Amino acid sequence: MTAAALEPVRLADYRVPAFLIDTVHLDIRLERTQTRIVSTLTLRRNPHSAGQGALKLDGDGLVFVEAWLDGVSLPSDAYSVSPHGFSLHQPPAEPFTLAIETRLDPSANTQLMGLYRSNSAYCTQCEAEGFRRITYFLDRPDVLSVYTTRIEASFQEAPVLLANGNRTEHGSLADGRHYAVWHDPFPKPSYLFAMVAGDLAMVADSFTTRSGREVRLEIYVEHGKEDRCAYAMDALKRSMRWDEQAFGREYDLDIFMIVAVSDFNMGAMENKGLNIFNDKYVLALPQTATDSDFAAVEAIIAHEYFHNWTGNRITCRDWFQLCLKEGLTVFRDQEFSSDQRSRPVKRINDVKLLRSQQFSEDGGPLAHPVRPEIYNEINNFYTATVYEKGAEVVRMLKTLIGDEAFAAGMDLYFQRHDGEAVTIEDFLTCFAEASRRDLGQFMLWYRQSGTPEIRAEGQWDEEAGTYHLSLKQILAPTPGQPNKQPMLFPIRLGLVGEDGDLPVTLDGKPFDGLVALAESERNYVFGNVRQAPVPSLLRGFSAPVKLTVALDEEALLTLLKADSDPFNRWQASQSYALKLLLRLVKDPTTPVDPRFIAAVRGLLAGGAVDPAFTALSLALPSETDIAREIGNDVDPQAVYRARSILRRTLARDLQADLLRTIENMTVAGPYSPQAADAGRRSLRNGALDLVCAGGTPQALDAAAAQFDKADNMTDEMAALATLALSATPAGERALHNFRERYDNDPLVIDKWMGVQAMLPLEATLDRVKELMHDPAFSLHNPNRVRALIGTFCSANQTQFNRADGEGYRFVADIILAIDPKNPQLAARLLVAFKTWRSLEQGRRTLAAATLRDIARRPGLSRDVADIAQRSLA
Ligand code: PHE
Ligand code: ZN
Repeated sequence: MTAAALEPVRLADYRVPAFLIDTVHLDIRLERTQTRIVSTLTLRRNPHSAGQGALKLDGDGLVFVEAWLDGVSLPSDAYSVSPHGFSLHQPPAEPFTLAIETRLDPSANTQLMGLYRSNSAYCTQCEAEGFRRITYFLDRPDVLSVYTTRIEASFQEAPVLLANGNRTEHGSLADGRHYAVWHDPFPKPSYLFAMVAGDLAMVADSFTTRSGREVRLEIYVEHGKEDRCAYAMDALKRSMRWDEQAFGREYDLDIFMIVAVSDFNMGAMENKGLNIFNDKYVLALPQTATDSDFAAVEAIIAHEYFHNWTGNRITCRDWFQLCLKEGLTVFRDQEFSSDQRSRPVKRINDVKLLRSQQFSEDGGPLAHPVRPEIYNEINNFYTATVYEKGAEVVRMLKTLIGDEAFAAGMDLYFQRHDGEAVTIEDFLTCFAEASRRDLGQFMLWYRQSGTPEIRAEGQWDEEAGTYHLSLKQILAPTPGQPNKQPMLFPIRLGLVGEDGDLPVTLDGKPFDGLVALAESERNYVFGNVRQAPVPSLLRGFSAPVKLTVALDEEALLTLLKADSDPFNRWQASQSYALKLLLRLVKDPTTPVDPRFIAAVRGLLAGGAVDPAFTALSLALPSETDIAREIGNDVDPQAVYRARSILRRTLARDLQADLLRTIENMTVAGPYSPQAADAGRRSLRNGALDLVCAGGTPQALDAAAAQFDKADNMTDEMAALATLALSATPAGERALHNFRERYDNDPLVIDKWMGVQAMLPLEATLDRVKELMHDPAFSLHNPNRVRALIGTFCSANQTQFNRADGEGYRFVADIILAIDPKNPQLAARLLVAFKTWRSLEQGRRTLAAATLRDIARRPGLSRDVADIAQRSLA
C-alpha cells in the first residue's frame, strides 16, 4: 500500500484574489443539529487581478441549500456546488450580491474547526481555514471584508449571543427565540470571524484608553466559574496599558470580549473584539492554578490582545506569512512579561522553551523555515519555528538596528500597512528604511531552516594585551536545503576576568558589547586585555544558534561567579552540568566533580538574592537537553540514569543545604501570583524536588508535610509530583487524596494525569492505559488528551521510548483513534516522533516501523498523513 498523495501549496504560486468581498452579512439561525446560515456577500472583480471567468468559493463539508444573485434565485445551471466549493459560472462584470444558504450540524463537529459546540455553548474557530466550514467563501487572509452578523437562537438555550464588533440591535422573537445583530466596522479576513452563543456567565470591567475612550471589557465563562476570571481581567488591563506605552497602540472598538471554552485545539484565538480561549488560559485561582499557570494566563491574554494590531489591523497576505503575526506577537508578549516580571528569568525560560521545542524540530525531519515556502496542510505549521524562532528573529532585528530604529520601524509598519494584508518583505522594508540598512542578508533568517552553529575560538596574547577571537558559522543541510548562504548574526559578548567584565577595546575604541557576524568566518582582535579573560559569548542569547566554545570547568566557574550577563551566568551552570552528565552517560561510575557540588552549594547560599534565578540555575539540563547534545544514537535510558545519578549525588551531598533552603524560602502571607513570591516558591520547590532524589526519610517527610499543609496549587502540585516520583506508598496515598479532592475540577485533574504520565517507571504505560478509563478522561477533549497522552509522549523520554516499542505502538493507536474525529489533535501528538532519527538503532527501527504503519493506513487525514510522511522522508 502507498501513502496518501498530498497536494502541496506553494508560496511561488501566490496570486492576488480574482474577486474582492466588500461586505458580508451573515444570518445564523442556531439549532443543535440543523443550523441554517444565509451569507450575503457583496462582490466585485479585483482591479489588480488578471483573473477572469468563474467565481470560485471555498467550502469544506458544507450542505448547500440555495443561492441568489442580486436577490434572484439562481437556476442550477448557473453554478456548480459540492461540499468543497461553490462556483458561479458567469459572474456579472459589475459589483453584485451573492447570497448562499447552507445547513450544518454543530453538534456533529468534532474537529473543533468551524461552528461547533463546547459544553452547552455554540462557538466558532476559523483560523486557518475554518470559515469555509460555515459558509462558501474566499477563505484566504488577503480578502478583507466588513462583517455584520445576525444570530438567532432559543433564548433559554442561548441567552448570550456574541459576534465581532459592536452590538447594534437585539430583541425577542416568537417561540421563545431571540436575536442580536453585531457589526464590526474594521475590514477583516474570514479567519478572524467569531460567534458565540450559550448560557454563559459574564464578568465585566472597563478600561479607559490613553485618549480617554472608555472600553467595556467582558469575560464569559461557565456559570459558577466567575470567581476564576479576576487574574485574566487584570492581565488584560495591564496588556492594554502596556501596548499603549511600549508600542503606542490603542484599542479600537468600544468593547473587548473574551470567552473561555473547554473544547479547544490550541491556546486561544484572537478573533476581532471577541477572543476565544481554551479555558485553561483564563481560569485561575490560587487553589487551582500554579504559578506557571498564572504566568501562562497573563502571557496568552496579552498575546491575543496584542494581535489586535499585529495580526488583525495588519494581517497576513497568505498563510506562508504566518510568522508575520505570530513571531512578532510572541516577541511582543515576551517583552510584556519581561516588563511585568523578571527580564532575565523570562529570557531564560523562553530560551529553554526554544531549545527544547524548536531546536529539536529544526534538527529533525520536520525542519522548515520561519517562513515556509511549501505546505501540505497549514494547520501543521503552527510550530515552534514559526512562533518561537519567529520571535527570536524579530528580537535579533532589534538588537542589530538598535532600539530607536526598531521603534521607528514599528511605527512605520503600523502607519504604512494599517488595514492591509502584507508580507515579511513589507515588514522588513519598514526597518530597512528606518535604519537605512540593507536587510537582504537578514532575510535569510526567514528562508533558511536549521539551527546555525557558531564555533568560537579565542587566544589571549599576554604580552600584547590582546585577545584574538575567531567566529565561524556552520549551516548544516536541512530537508530541501542542502546548501546555505552565510547569515547575519548579532553576537553580544564580553571578556570576563576574576572580578567581572574587562573594559576592552575593539578597533581601538571602547567595545560596546556587540558584533555582527556576516561572513562564514571572521577574526576579532580585542585590546586592553590585561588579564587572562574568559569569553562570555552570545550574551542574552542574542541569536538562536548552537554555540560551540571550549570552556573548561575553571572558565565556567569564572562566568558563574563574575559574568555581568545573567543569562550567561545561568548558561555556565547548565554547561557545567552538561559536561558532567555527558560523562555519566558514557560511564555511570564517573565520580562527580566536587567543584560542581561546591558551586551548587554556593548558589543555594546566595539563593535569597534572586530566588527565581537560583531555581533556574539549580535545575539540571533536561533529558531532552542531554539527548540533543549527544546528537545521535541516543539511549534515553542511559540519559535518564546519568541524570538520576547526578541528582542523587547532589541530594545526598547537599541535603542540609537543600533542607535549609526549603525552610528559608517559605512564603509568608496570603498567596500572590506575582513574580517575587513565585520566585521563592520555585526555589523552594526546586530544592524539594532535588533533595527528594536522595530518597531519605527527612526529605520525603518534607514533601509529605508540604502536601498536607499547602494552601496553593503550586506547592501542592510540587509536593505531589515529588511524592509520586518517589514511588513509595506515600506517593500513592498523595495521588489518591488529590484525585478525591479535585474530583469536579477537570483542569486540576489534568495535572494529576500529567504527573502520573511523566513517571519514569516501567509500569507507567499500564498506568496511562488505566487512566484512560477514569471517568474524568475523554479522547474527545484536547486538554484531557494532551494532559495524559501528550505528557506521556513529550515529557516521558524513557517510557515513550521503551526499548520494546510498546510506547510507540500505544501512542500510534491513540493517534489513529483520534484522527477521524480531530485530525489537528492527532497530528500534534504525532509530532512527538520528530526526533526519532537521533535514537539508538533498536528504538530507531521500532519508531520508524510505527511511523510507516501510520503512513500506510488508508483514510488518514491530511494533517496526520503530512506529518507521518515528512517524518519519514
Ligand atoms: N492564532 C492563535 C494564536 O497564536 C493560534 C491558533 C491557531 C488558534 C489556529 C486556533 C487555531 O494566538
Ligand atoms: Zn498568536
